Amino acid sequence: MYDVYEIRNDFPILKEIVNGKQLVYLDNSATTQKPKTVIDTIYNYYSSYNANVHRGVHSLGVKATEAYENTRRMVANFINAPDPVCIIFTKGTTESINLVAYSWGRKFLKEGNEIIITIMEHHSNIVPWQILAKEKNLVLKFIPLKDDGTLDLEAFKSSLNEKTKLVAITHVSNVLGTINPIREIIRLSHSAGAIVLVDGAQSVPSIPIDVQELDVDFLVFSAHKMLGPTGVGVLYGKEELLERMDPLLGGGEMIKRVTKDSSVWADIPYKFEGGTPNIAGVIGFAPAIEYLNKLGLSNVYNHERALVSYALNRLLKIDGIRIYGPLNSESRLNIISFNYRDIHPHDVATILDQYGIAIRAGHHCAQPLHSYIGISASCRVSFYLYNTKEEIDIFLDALRKVDRIFKNEHRRTL
Ligand code: ALA
Repeated sequence: MYDVYEIRNDFPILKEIVNGKQLVYLDNSATTQKPKTVIDTIYNYYSSYNANVHRGVHSLGVKATEAYENTRRMVANFINAPDPVCIIFTKGTTESINLVAYSWGRKFLKEGNEIIITIMEHHSNIVPWQILAKEKNLVLKFIPLKDDGTLDLEAFKSSLNEKTKLVAITHVSNVLGTINPIREIIRLSHSAGAIVLVDGAQSVPSIPIDVQELDVDFLVFSAHKMLGPTGVGVLYGKEELLERMDPLLGGGEMIKRVTKDSSVWADIPYKFEGGTPNIAGVIGFAPAIEYLNKLGLSNVYNHERALVSYALNRLLKIDGIRIYGPLNSESRLNIISFNYRDIHPHDVATILDQYGIAIRAGHHCAQPLHSYIGISASCRVSFYLYNTKEEIDIFLDALRKVDRIFKNEHRRTL
């Protein structure tokens, strides 16, 4: 049985008092909290077997390398990758996308080729393609949304053509919470001869994904949005694609041999992991995956869907709330972005913080989407496996007070 109250006991930070109130953490799309097993594993690595990986023959180095490679196998199993060599550790989703842009895009894309992304992308799935498009004279196309905040699939179909070489799309929007039909998008893209990169930063933590069954070419995500440490990202790639790509970073441990004139690359995945990696972070990612496996990702998904539906129904009843993205909770994962009357999102977030409630305010690294909607900023709540309906009630009660508090403050300063 999914006992959220028992789960909360595994997360020390959830007992914190913030501004005299019990912390209500609703900023999970920015980063999730860490269970004690993750914190202890990192402590244990530094206090008992801190050593570099893939280098030393001494016992500490062997133990650290074994733990590091164990995480790679666990990540491969988690997304059903055919082989752990298809899992590259990076420092985050952003770096994983940049790696594909530079190592695959720069090598294989030619002038006039087209890349399709969507208007709901995070900056990390826009900017690398803009840079590449400028450098190589490529065409970058943005798929628009329908009025209900879901992707316009018809527009996508008509944008696809023989010049399309890459479709890079988020699985779940970090602003709207919209769940995109990636299975259909991958199928359509492949039949047009394009490969697909899926940004799974918001979905891999909550939606069971089987990369072989989806037939996705690249999948990218971050450990810190799924209970793991910051500074660890994953690039999954099909083996034949990774084999044909050149490394992004030249340096230690990514080579087989170096002479004064040239170098021979190491095999995948090491070819892409030059320099000392985030060893503690990668080792600390293993207990995060273990935790999710123990809970069962489908249970996590159902829990989040129940929370989002509960919150959505109640938010809609508050006068002056404008919600962005699908109102039908079936098309939305664990995120709700909104504006409240004409109060600036930073003011809303600052007042909520006085009640111990953490939400995000701003453009959420998705400025083109905000411009498309016609706003400059929004408030965002995002839920994860340890959030409760009671926390949503606390948030809603505090939100109702924001208008009154803001008006009083405003009057006082006049
Ligand atoms: N990409 C993260 C967010 O949406 C940081 O908040």
